[in-house]
Amino acid sequence: MNVVVVNNFDRMSEEVAKIMIKQIIQKPKSVLGLATGSSPLRVYKLLVEYHNRGADFSGLTTFNLDEYVGLSKEHPQSYRQYMNENFFSHVNIKPENTFVPSGVTEDPEEECRLYEQSIKQAGGIDMQILGIGSNAHIGFNEPGTPFDSITQVVDLSESTIKDNARFFDTIEEVPTKAISMGIKTIMQAKEIVLMANGGSKAKAIYGAVMGRITPEVPASVLQLHPSVTIVVDQAAASKL
Ligand code: GLP
Repeated sequence: MNVVVVNNFDRMSEEVAKIMIKQIIQKPKSVLGLATGSSPLRVYKLLVEYHNRGADFSGLTTFNLDEYVGLSKEHPQSYRQYMNENFFSHVNIKPENTFVPSGVTEDPEEECRLYEQSIKQAGGIDMQILGIGSNAHIGFNEPGTPFDSITQVVDLSESTIKDNARFFDTIEEVPTKAISMGIKTIMQAKEIVLMANGGSKAKAIYGAVMGRITPEVPASVLQLHPSVTIVVDQAAASKL
């Protein structure tokens, strides 16, 4: 595990964008696993700037980690909408090569099965980008999720619902379920890059980097992956 400590959010974003750009240059047909949340916002901005300077993203395929159950792709807080607004609509990735689970499918179990299948058909994920929840969740895999889980419907924990309430008008509007890639799905990526900033992530980062490896701290599983880079600002690294 390679831990990179930087000064602040901007430096974290630059470092992660640099790693992703290197991947895209080395393999223009990369399959990227993408994350949402506030952590990667500036990374997407930097990638859009890179595209505006002439970089071609038309060979990429992307798989997002998760989506809220119950939110349509047009819902302003859906992760599909987030990805369109912050990244996809500003670059030349082919829309049909951008995968985000559907939160409004009639058969969520089938949606999960097809998602796993699509990842396999694409040849697996070359580089998975991750944020981390304050309870150390990755994707929406909450504490207690088995390490052998694949894409599935998950219940969000109280703390995650509270953390994410800032994006909704009232806490009642925050969905209580999501479709999330599983821990095993994430661990099958060839390379993983996790980013975190701010003191509210310090405990989760300690658990991910130095804690006991246990499903109670989902990100601790990353200690078992052969190629992980963790990019954190000083506040998030303060317990290391
Ligand atoms: C959300 C997402 C995660 C994300 C995490 C952190 O619940 N499902 O993929 O990494 O929370 O979010 P943020 O970056 O906004 O702190």
